[in-house]
Amino acid sequence: MIKIAPSILSADFSKLGEDIKSLEKNGADLVHIDVMDGMFVPNISFGIPIIKSIRNLTKLPFDVHLMIEEPSRYIEDFVKAGADIITVHYEADRHIDRTINYIKSFGIKAAVALNPATPVESIKYLIPNLDMVLIMTVNPGFGGQKYIHYCSEKIKELKVLGNKFNKELMIEVDGGIGKDNIKEVAEYGANVFVAGSAVFKDGMIAQNIKELRGDL
Ligand code: DX5
Ligand code: ZN
Repeated sequence: MIKIAPSILSADFSKLGEDIKSLEKNGADLVHIDVMDGMFVPNISFGIPIIKSIRNLTKLPFDVHLMIEEPSRYIEDFVKAGADIITVHYEADRHIDRTINYIKSFGIKAAVALNPATPVESIKYLIPNLDMVLIMTVNPGFGGQKYIHYCSEKIKELKVLGNKFNKELMIEVDGGIGKDNIKEVAEYGANVFVAGSAVFKDGMIAQNIKELRGDL
């Protein structure tokens, strides 16, 4: 089952509540929430109080993508703020296995994100214990960048490992996904699609989501 996860990084923050409601109304499956600390990535976005303030506006699951150093320090706070899935970066955590178990101990889903240059092989042994792997298809930090083509190979490799070690594993892609490449990326094996600029382009959320789903 294909899931669309709009990234609210590209939402209009002056009317964030309205945009969130519009995502639910127009068939989004998850709300993708990009948290950036200005250390792990060269940009600062938003944090826990914002997530809390939008939690009651929708029933959609919150897919929280932590682009922060040593994310284990804040897991409990993000769980309390209403996260349903927490994704931590492989590159940001020296004890990723421990952090994954810690996230799962709160009864929510756990995922690992891989920067473009990080091989899929790095997380091979974690796969049986993960709910999802996020393949970054741009360098994290900003919306509106171009899909990096060599990442397609990584999606295919992950699909093979998923088939072998965890048939339930969700494969999420994030960065540069739009109506022109979503079908192709789905064929490589991805089934959760983050899209920021493609969903919020010109404020036409309904039409943009419909176009993304296209003939998937
Ligand atoms: C990038 C973020 C993405 C970003 C995607 O660091 O993780 O979720 O918002 O934006 P688009 O879809 O515009 O590439
Ligand atoms: Zn993201």
